[in-house]
Amino acid sequence: MELEKIIHSQGFGSRKECRALIRAGVVSVDNRPVGDPKRDFATDGLAFAVDGERWQYRERAYLMMNKPAGYECSRQPQCHPAIYTLLPWPLVRRGVQSVGRLDQDSCGLLLFSDDGKFIHRWSSGKKRVPKLYRAWLDEDVGSEIVGRLLDGVRLHDEPEPFSAVDCRIRDPRVLEVTVTEGRYHLVKRMIAAAGGHVARLQRLRIGGLWLPQDLPEGEWRWLDEVALAALAAAPAD
Ligand code: URA
Repeated sequence: MELEKIIHSQGFGSRKECRALIRAGVVSVDNRPVGDPKRDFATDGLAFAVDGERWQYRERAYLMMNKPAGYECSRQPQCHPAIYTLLPWPLVRRGVQSVGRLDQDSCGLLLFSDDGKFIHRWSSGKKRVPKLYRAWLDEDVGSEIVGRLLDGVRLHDEPEPFSAVDCRIRDPRVLEVTVTEGRYHLVKRMIAAAGGHVARLQRLRIGGLWLPQDLPEGEWRWLDEVALAALAAAPAD
């Protein structure tokens, strides 16, 4: 593929902007500057740098972030900065989107991609992907709350009850809840309907993929083959 096309596909601007970058001498391939925008390269495993920053060619982008509270999962945020401000601009420019959403005040595992099929696969409620949340409540959790969440609770404006597929008390005020649906404020509303109030919510797992313990809040990383396989695997404790 022509270098100009490659750089464009990776989010570094329009074809014209990418051509100008290459002609300006700021693009290198395998550590050597390349000034010809039309030069062909095999994309498989291609490593390049723009303005000294190293990148790997990826036909599609798959990544995960440890979302901090205080960011909106929207490109047009209302009151808080967009989650996209925490990603490098070429990823945003190439159209990476969050896979579903977390509330502004929720934190934890959030996936991103520019692959429409992947986004649909992991965000569609019909696929019943299990998602595990840790909820910190205002008061000690009684076992009756767990029972209600497992049996199913009625939510305003929803014809059918919603139930957790798993629910465990981890600490007197900490509950871990697994749900397979996606709805606005679902976990907070379910816990409220069961008689609790969530003060803080963190997503720990999607499918079989855990939030890595060594991924600090606000940071992201690529989903490699191992992480993608874990995502698709049945969740294990
Ligand atoms: N449920 C909620 O209530 N909030 C989230 O951010 C995610 C699930």
